[in-house]
Amino acid sequence: MLSFYSRVLVAYDGSTLSKKALQTAVELMKQSPQAELDIATVYDVPKGLEGYGLYNEGLLKEFRAGTEKMMAKVEKDLKEKNLQNKIQTYILEGNSSKVLVDFANERDTDLILIGSRGLSGLQEVFLGSVSHYVVQRANCPVFVIK
Ligand SMILES: Nc1ncnc2c1ncn2[C@@H]1O[C@H](COP(=O)(O)OP(=O)(O)OP(=O)(O)O)[C@@H](O)[C@H]1O
Ligand SMILES: [Mg+2]
Repeated sequence: MLSFYSRVLVAYDGSTLSKKALQTAVELMKQSPQAELDIATVYDVPKGLEGYGLYNEGLLKEFRAGTEKMMAKVEKDLKEKNLQNKIQTYILEGNSSKVLVDFANERDTDLILIGSRGLSGLQEVFLGSVSHYVVQRANCPVFVIK
């Protein structure tokens, strides 16, 4: 399958389904050692905090540190798998949906793996806002993990 898809992007937010997407990507990588894997998480400054006086440097640092810790764990777990593939993790900032699509375009990603739902976990809706946007706007195929 990956002879078509040589640069794969996993959209990772630490949710169960994004972990499953990463696992799926790892299995694909094992089958295609020449394929490259990008794992991106977008650090989205929570909106509306300003209004509550909660928006400050300390809090931002804390969010940022949490994201870095999450990605460090991803890197550590991947190293232990001894994959042959070129693998890189990215911490991006801004509006998650748009940043992910722009990143995929810039990187010439040819397959995106994304969870159907993420951290918010509203079960009634099939796709979250990020996966919905990415499926609609990406220029490459999107593999939705559920
Ligand atoms: N900040 C992010 N960085 C990278 N990937 C993300 C991010 N947010 C979501 N994703 C990806 O999108 C998938 C679906 O998450 P999404 O955020 O769309 O749903 P949700 O959290 O359930 O609902 P919503 O955020 O719309 O309230 C996740 O499993 C993950 O793969
Ligand atoms: Mg979400």
